[in-house]
Amino acid sequence: MINIAIFASGTGTNFSALLDKIQSSELNINVVCLVCDHPDALVVQRAKDANIPVWAHEMKEFENKHYYETAIAQYLTSLKVDLLVLAGYMKIVSDVLLTAYPGKIINIHPAMLPKFPGRHGIEDAFAAGVSSTGVTVHYVDSGVDSGPIIAQQAVEILPSDDIDTLATRIHDVEHVLYFDSLCKVIERDFNR
Ligand code: GRF
Repeated sequence: MINIAIFASGTGTNFSALLDKIQSSELNINVVCLVCDHPDALVVQRAKDANIPVWAHEMKEFENKHYYETAIAQYLTSLKVDLLVLAGYMKIVSDVLLTAYPGKIINIHPAMLPKFPGRHGIEDAFAAGVSSTGVTVHYVDSGVDSGPIIAQQAVEILPSDDIDTLATRIHDVEHVLYFDSLCKVIERDFNR
């Protein structure tokens, strides 16, 4: 059994899509917890509704990011977590977690990296007037959306698109690509 922790900060549509696919698959993946930096986020309720344990604390409850991540790492160790799956987690992961889980943290980004990294991948691509953007799943390193790429899928930007229609199509791609990429990572990195 591979134990994964999902990290998210907001709405949690990727959290729900992953959980649904994992729970209806034959794969030996166990979603052991949600880690969230905003206790009031919608994703926390989604996890509670699904009976997934939640660790939800603001960073300001801790002296600094080091202590915040140390508390997370201790919680993950107690649950024997193997892989961290960031799904809309809006904090930059730093030393404590990168050292505790080397090569074992993955993220999804709503653009074709290395194009349009950062918080506003969808808006930035739309504003740039490019004809296509996409979704990237990648390993997390100490940079911003800069780790080795696991999978990418392009999404065309149509002349009729506004931000909302584009975002909807990107999210639809995310909800499939993240599960497929997770399967690939588990097969390749955990020999399952
Ligand atoms: C997704 O677009 C993801 O790529 C980005 O944050 C968004 C999270 O959406 N990192 P949701 O909370 O999963 O609905």
